[in-house]
Amino acid sequence: MKSFRNLFLLLFLLAGTVTLAQVKPSPAPTELRMNQFVQGLMQKMTLDEKIGQLNLVTPGGGVATGAVVSQGVEEKIRKGQVGGLFGITGPDKVRSVQEIAVKESRLHIPLLFGLDVIHGHKTVFPIPLGLSCSWDMPLIEKSARIAATEATADGLCWAFSPMVDIARDPRWGRIAEGSGEDAYLGSQIAKAMVKGYQGEGLAKNNTLMACVKHFALYGAAEAGRDYNTVDMSRIGMYQNYLPPYKAAVDAAVGSVMSSFNEIDGIPATGNKWLLTDLLRKQWGFKGLVVSDYTSVNEMSAHGMGDLQTVSALALNAGLNMDMVGEGFLTTLKKSLKEHKVTQQQIDEACKRVLEAKYKLGLFDDPYRYCNVQRANEILSSENRKAAREIAAHSFVLLKNAKQVLPLKKSGTIALVGPLADSKRNMLGTWSVAGDWQQSIPVIEGMKNVAGNNVNIIFAKGANISDDSLLVKRTNVFGPEIEVDKRSPEEMIQEAVEAATKADLVVAVVGEAADMTGEASSRSDISLPKSQENLLKALAKTGKPLVIVLFNGRPLTLNWENKYADAILDVWFGGIETGNAVADVLFGDYNPSGKITASFPVNTGQIPIYYNHKNTGRPYNGEEFAKFKSNYLDVSNDPLYPFGYGLSYTSFQYGELSLSKTKIRPNEKLRVKLKISNEGNFDGEETVQLYIRDMVATVTRPVKELKGFQKVFLKKGESRELEFSIGVEDLKFWNSNLKWVYEPGAFQVFVGTNSRDVKEASFELLP
Ligand code: NOJ
Repeated sequence: MKSFRNLFLLLFLLAGTVTLAQVKPSPAPTELRMNQFVQGLMQKMTLDEKIGQLNLVTPGGGVATGAVVSQGVEEKIRKGQVGGLFGITGPDKVRSVQEIAVKESRLHIPLLFGLDVIHGHKTVFPIPLGLSCSWDMPLIEKSARIAATEATADGLCWAFSPMVDIARDPRWGRIAEGSGEDAYLGSQIAKAMVKGYQGEGLAKNNTLMACVKHFALYGAAEAGRDYNTVDMSRIGMYQNYLPPYKAAVDAAVGSVMSSFNEIDGIPATGNKWLLTDLLRKQWGFKGLVVSDYTSVNEMSAHGMGDLQTVSALALNAGLNMDMVGEGFLTTLKKSLKEHKVTQQQIDEACKRVLEAKYKLGLFDDPYRYCNVQRANEILSSENRKAAREIAAHSFVLLKNAKQVLPLKKSGTIALVGPLADSKRNMLGTWSVAGDWQQSIPVIEGMKNVAGNNVNIIFAKGANISDDSLLVKRTNVFGPEIEVDKRSPEEMIQEAVEAATKADLVVAVVGEAADMTGEASSRSDISLPKSQENLLKALAKTGKPLVIVLFNGRPLTLNWENKYADAILDVWFGGIETGNAVADVLFGDYNPSGKITASFPVNTGQIPIYYNHKNTGRPYNGEEFAKFKSNYLDVSNDPLYPFGYGLSYTSFQYGELSLSKTKIRPNEKLRVKLKISNEGNFDGEETVQLYIRDMVATVTRPVKELKGFQKVFLKKGESRELEFSIGVEDLKFWNSNLKWVYEPGAFQVFVGTNSRDVKEASFELLP
């Protein structure tokens, strides 16, 4: 390491431009030393070199994450026209590109190397929506920690994660990438992820810079259509959408990515209120702000002007780095001459990029993350073990009639369905470094776990979809939907025969991995027809029917909920999916996941979320009533509410006991209850606490999550739990956008999900 620092100093000195004192980064990266170093370096930089630092490129060749790729990358690096690069992996490859910057560019400034490390790196964990269903912060943090260790051993220092966009619309394909519909839970997860990636700071070479995205409100795209318009009140943003980004900022996230959508009529990437007033001034963010993929250029299509205009708009707004589009690279110099941007703005942006590099230790050692010796840290058996455990924690048991699950480790099982033997679909969307060939499909996991007394008869039964257009559009990264040569009838027939010979049927059905993710919105979120037909035929056999469901979003599951005996939602569980599914099906792990996005009855109910307002004519949960806020043709209730998820055991909740019925603002209210495991299995339960502010100067939701505890109880065990509520938990954004509490009546609810709760009332005194 030391030797490189000396080389760096030498190269600098040879360039005859700086003195030793100016360039020597301190081993203790205090802000002062960093400032001195960065200032010193910037004094030597030309305007072009400063603008070059603002350019983030992707050379292509890996998994495409956008519609265009950068051209002439090597030459640009040599000329000092690149600040960072994403989309390549491997210590050797990264080193060779870094060498171009360090050895061949005038000032030898190292590059940032980023990637979409979203739910694991090579050891792929469940998709983030699945991960969030674990409600298990230590496990979530651990997944990010492992991802950071692997990614840094693979040459990278920057992860474009966590994605914390709140989504209330399951049509939106990117709901798969976030933590669901709730801002409180989303904030806890944002914090855990940042901590996992960045550790206690960026001092170690196995931590990387996180990037919270997509700032902001990207998950509120109208009609769930990706990149669509967002139109939201300020109070709605502050209350429901901004908290997770803020939580990441408070957790010292190193970078922020602006979103594609507009906010209050101005695209986020050029929105000064968002990127400067809110992010920098109100929240005190000191890190790097990067655009999304060509989102600077896309402001032209939004109708904000030509490339020069939108690039100036973005810089003025507070954007520091331009991803792929090169609007900064090609127009900022001209804009400076024409006084459309200032030198100070360019300097400020350049400073942020250099500071990120400094914090990552790249000036100390640009090859810090290029250690081939660390290959054994990637995809280790220990990491795979963690992936298996974490996946099992993410699964949600949606139904289990007559305790059909767990399965016995004896007898004959008909394992059917297009996802039962589909390695390619296990990893889920946004697993760019993952190798699907390394994944464990369900059939393999079942065989691993079942033992010798189980006979498994496999039949594919159906294609994921028979709709050729959907197949084509889904298969952009490869044949995730493999269309069988046989007719649908033949396939169903084979599955029915298998079912007839078996004691029960496990049907592994759902979406293909890329039926969710970026640009994968769906207007119909039911199971594709081909699979529905298969399930109906299987149900007719009269054999117990267990559905193992793959999905990147809540689906409409009315038929399935009515006719299947059990439904286990496994999202896309990552590289160890098959083993984890088998662990849960056979009862080696008792499922404990709880959904973090409501499952609608039908798409007409969307947007659907538990923390809705009461309205002036509330639906009262009973029959349709004229002149009430309800539908003629469906109830307002979701099929499965937020926080819902079953266990093989059964937990009983006692009544709530409050330490007081009135509290003063400086006091805490203690809420106690007894929870007992009255079933036949040991198990974990996520106990959820919600509050409702009964009267306020602005309308308040009918329930808001304010706490949860995950407890493990042995069968027959009871435990008293205690939650504490303070005035901070009772605050909200008022119409002046002040974070306030207002004295008055509150309700508190504790339960197994957002619907089934015990409740009590208390008063907050002035
Ligand atoms: C576009 C996506 O919106 C963003 O999440 C991702 O990080 C970038 N592409 C880079 O791949």
